[in-house]
Amino acid sequence: MLPLLLLCATLARPSQHRANEKPLPYLLRAGRDSRRGSYQIPSAVQNGTSKARFDIPTPETTLDIETLFMLDAPQIDFINGSVYDWWYFDAISETNPDDSLVVTFFSSSAEAFPFLDASETSVLNVWLWASFANGTVFADSVPASVATVTGAGVAGTNSSGKWSSTGFSWAALTENLLQYEIIIASQKLHVEGRLTLTSVSSVSDRRNRQIANVAQQRVPYHLPCGVQAERTVLEIAPHIGWVNLIPDAVGEVDMKIHGSPMKFRGPGYHDKASDLTAYSVQSWYWGHGRLGPYSIVWFSYLAINDPTNAAYVSSYIAKDGELLVSACEPSILTVRPIGSPGTTGGRYPPRMGDIPDGFRLEYDLGEDNGQLKVNVSVRTSVAGNGNDYMRWTGDMVGELIESESQRLQKAGCSLKREDSPLVGVAVLEQFVMVE
Ligand SMILES: *[C@@H]1O[C@H](CO)[C@@H](O)[C@H](O)[C@H]1NC(C)=O
Ligand SMILES: *[C@@H]1O[C@H](CO)[C@@H](O)[C@H](O)[C@H]1NC(C)=O
Ligand SMILES: *[C@@H]1O[C@H](CO)[C@@H](O)[C@H](O)[C@H]1NC(C)=O
Ligand SMILES: *[C@@H]1O[C@H](CO)[C@@H](O)[C@H](O)[C@H]1NC(C)=O
Ligand SMILES: *[C@@H]1O[C@H](CO)[C@@H](O)[C@H](O)[C@H]1NC(C)=O
Repeated sequence: MLPLLLLCATLARPSQHRANEKPLPYLLRAGRDSRRGSYQIPSAVQNGTSKARFDIPTPETTLDIETLFMLDAPQIDFINGSVYDWWYFDAISETNPDDSLVVTFFSSSAEAFPFLDASETSVLNVWLWASFANGTVFADSVPASVATVTGAGVAGTNSSGKWSSTGFSWAALTENLLQYEIIIASQKLHVEGRLTLTSVSSVSDRRNRQIANVAQQRVPYHLPCGVQAERTVLEIAPHIGWVNLIPDAVGEVDMKIHGSPMKFRGPGYHDKASDLTAYSVQSWYWGHGRLGPYSIVWFSYLAINDPTNAAYVSSYIAKDGELLVSACEPSILTVRPIGSPGTTGGRYPPRMGDIPDGFRLEYDLGEDNGQLKVNVSVRTSVAGNGNDYMRWTGDMVGELIESESQRLQKAGCSLKREDSPLVGVAVLEQFVMVE
C-alpha cells in the first residue's frame, strides 16, 4: 500500500515564495520603539502625523518569538484622527453557521472607520458581535480609558492586550502564538465568558517537529505575501498593514450574552490590521473559513482613484494544517461578487449599496495542486449598514480541479478521486467606499 501511495500522491509544496517580491510603493521604517515589550495606548486622539511599521526583518523563513510579538503589537506609533489599528478575533459554529462571534479591539478615531460611533471620544473601543442560531444578532461596544499591549517575557505574559476597564482582554497562551484566549467580563454589555482559539496547524506541527526539514517550512501564520527573503512586507495594499496570526483555529465559545448562553465550536481566526489612510479604499473583500480539509483566507482590494483597477490580493490555503499557499501574487486568486438577477449585487468593481448573494473564489495552486474553486453564499448579516460595510456568516461549496500534470500522474493509479463537493462555513466582509 505504501509504495502506491507515494507514487500517486502529489507533494504539497508551500509556495509563499511565488509571491512577487517587488516591494510595495510605500515602505516605512519602524515606528517609535516602546519600552521593551510593552505599549500603553492613550484614549485621546493625538495630533500630528502617525507613522507605521510596515515591514519586518526576516533573515530566516521561520519567525522567532520576538518577531511574532512585533506582528501582534501596535503597528502605528500613535492614533491621530485618520488612522487605525485593530486586533480582530472570531469563531463560527461548524454545525450551525448562524452561530458566530466576533470581538474587535480598536485603537481608531471614529472618523477613520465607517461604523464607529462618531460621538465616542475614546479611540479605544471594543466591539462585540454575536449571531445566534435563530438569526438574532447582538452588537455593542464599550470604550476604554487606556489599553496595554504586552509582549513575550513581560511579567510572564506572551502577547496580551487589555482595554481598561472594559472587562475585555486577550492573551496568547503560548509564546509561539498558536493559542489565544479572549476573556470577557463586561457589566456594561451584560456579557461574560471566553473565546479560545487553538491554531489548526499546531496539531500537525507537533507531528512534523519530528521531521526537521518539514518543521522548517511550517508557517502557521499568514503575512500578506508570505515570509519574504530578508525583509517581509506587511502591507496588503499601500498604507494598509495586515497580519494574519491565526488563519484558522479550532474556536470554542462559552459565553453568556444578556443572559442567553452561547456555546459552540468551529473555525476561528485572528488578524491584526493597521491603516494609515483610511480614505484610500475603493473596495475590500475579505473572508476566511474551513472547506473540508482546507483552511482558506481571501483578501482582494481595489484602491481608490486607481484607473487601472489593479487588485491587491492575498491568499492563504492550508490542507490538513499543511501550508499550500501564502502569497500576494494577483494571478493566484480571483474574488468576484455574485448577485441576484435584476440587482447590482454582482457588479465588479462594486459601488456603495451593491449587496451580493455571495462570492466566487478561484485559487490557482499551481501544477502540483490544481485549482480550488469555491462558491461562498451569504447567510446571516451580522454587521454593516447595507451600504459601505457588510459582514456576514456564509456557507461554502467548493471543488478541486486537478492540473494536467496531476491527471497524468494519476493516470496509472487506481486511487479514487475525491469527487464529492467540499463544504464548509465562512465569515466574510466587504467594504465599498465609492458611490
Ligand atoms: C490637539 O490639538 C488641539 C487643537 O490645537 C488641542 O485642543 C488638543 O488638546 C490637542 N490634542 C492633544 C492630544 O495634544
Ligand atoms: C495622520 O497621519 C497621517 C500620516 O500617516 C496623515 O496622512 C494624516 O493627515 C494624519 N491625520 C491627521 C488628522 O492629522
Ligand atoms: C506563555 O507561553 C509559555 C510557553 O509557551 C507558557 O508556558 C506560559 O504559560 C504562557 N504564559 C501565559 C501567561 O499564558
Ligand atoms: C434568539 O435566541 C437568543 C439566544 O437564545 C434569544 O436571546 C432571543 O430572544 C431569540 N430571539 C427570538 C426572536 O426568538
Ligand atoms: C458554483 O456556482 C456555479 C454557478 O452557479 C456552478 O456552475 C458551480 O457548479 C458551483 N460550484 C460548486 C462546487 O458547487
